[in-house]
Amino acid sequence: MEQKSAIIIGAGNRGQTYASYSLTYPNELKIVGIADPNPEKRDKFIHLYNLNDSQCYDSWESIFDQPKLADVAIITTQDQMHVEPALAAIKKGYHILLEKPLATTENECVTINEKAKGYDKIIGLCHVLRYTSHYLKIKELIDSGMIGDVVNIEHLEPVNYWHMAHSYVRGNWRRLDESSPMIIAKSIHDIDLVSWFANSPYKSIYSIGSLRHFTTENAPEGSTDRCISDCAVENECPYSALKLYMNMDLTGWPVSVISSDLSKEGREKALQEGPYGRCVYRSDNDVVDHQVVSIEFENYIKASFTMSAFTDGERRTRIMGTMGEIIGDFNTITLSNFRNQSKEIVWEKSEEDEMGHGGGDFGLMKQFLLAVRANDSTLFSSSLEAAVESHLMSFGAEKSRLEKRVILSNQKL
Ligand SMILES: NC(=O)c1ccc[n+]([C@@H]2O[C@H](COP(=O)([O-])OP(=O)(O)OC[C@H]3O[C@@H](n4cnc5c(N)ncnc54)[C@H](O)[C@@H]3O)[C@@H](O)[C@H]2O)c1
Repeated sequence: MEQKSAIIIGAGNRGQTYASYSLTYPNELKIVGIADPNPEKRDKFIHLYNLNDSQCYDSWESIFDQPKLADVAIITTQDQMHVEPALAAIKKGYHILLEKPLATTENECVTINEKAKGYDKIIGLCHVLRYTSHYLKIKELIDSGMIGDVVNIEHLEPVNYWHMAHSYVRGNWRRLDESSPMIIAKSIHDIDLVSWFANSPYKSIYSIGSLRHFTTENAPEGSTDRCISDCAVENECPYSALKLYMNMDLTGWPVSVISSDLSKEGREKALQEGPYGRCVYRSDNDVVDHQVVSIEFENYIKASFTMSAFTDGERRTRIMGTMGEIIGDFNTITLSNFRNQSKEIVWEKSEEDEMGHGGGDFGLMKQFLLAVRANDSTLFSSSLEAAVESHLMSFGAEKSRLEKRVILSNQKL
């Protein structure tokens, strides 16, 4: 198999995940450069990927100032730093794997789309759920025609109470001005799935939702600014930072995010001084904790989507067709065939599906590299074009939520 080379732009959590594909499949991928301002992260890459200092850069600008260094640029910087590195990578002629979101504003999505017109390399978005065997199977069942014409799609994204507290109340995606609306920062995966299943541009969209719970007004009596500083209700609070981060048996994500020192002292310091020790009722968050979206597609399919923090479990999807129904809960997929009144489990989760994002992280890398080797963008469904459609839908939903009105896709947002 032809090995492809890649540079990683942003050596954080996601950059490390995609780079690690090269350790498991060295015949497919080799990491040959890294850009990150954090020297500790660069050192980690030097050690793991056998790089030398000259292959390490301190910013996306400096790595793209060089002549083209690899076949692929994997861009995994934070949400508001996707567009400029992506445009720089296009200028240099890299195949590009870009983390979601494509951009944090509608105008930027349109700009990238314009600049990429006629580009003869692959530009893929990291909508990893498309590459889980669970959703690949649902898509295959829909496309097989087994359930006739799809009429309705119902999809639930249970963010999970602890994940909400970690990422969207205390963490990097808690504020609109530093990140993007929740429907872009988190639910873009789900809106993208719904759009992929419907296989049609959207016609109209309506959304409601708000920040219901994680506000100062809901702070219980006796709570303090930090869970670690004598909070009287810490023991009974489900969102307690001590419960989430002080279990010394846990060292992976999300604990790994709070500090590079995961000793007891290191964790306590992070909870005393850092963002992850804050009371969830006294943070500076403003993104919604629940949202509902109704979508009508041009091919008449109607979809409803719910995102909620107040959940504990996996995504659920129900596809309702004229001849059958598909129900997926991430553990199983059940297919009802109205023609012969049969109902059977047609897919069950395996060990491989326990890996990053239900197997989607490596599934996406495998498929992306396949498309790169063939230089054939049709082999990678999470394309720039698909991402533009799902992002414009999501911006439409956010506009609808804020303005309390239905948005038609042909309206200027
Ligand atoms: N596809 C998914 O399922 C998924 C899951 C989580 C996060 N994400 C997205 O992935 C992106 C990265 O998230 P993360 O959790 O890895 O964040 P992170 O903060 O761990 O990583 C971002 C990295 O970018 C680096 N950086 C900052 N400025 C830079 C610059 N000028 N040049 C180069 N690097 C720079 C930071 O030092 C950091 O190491 C975000 O956009 C996030 O929304 C996607």
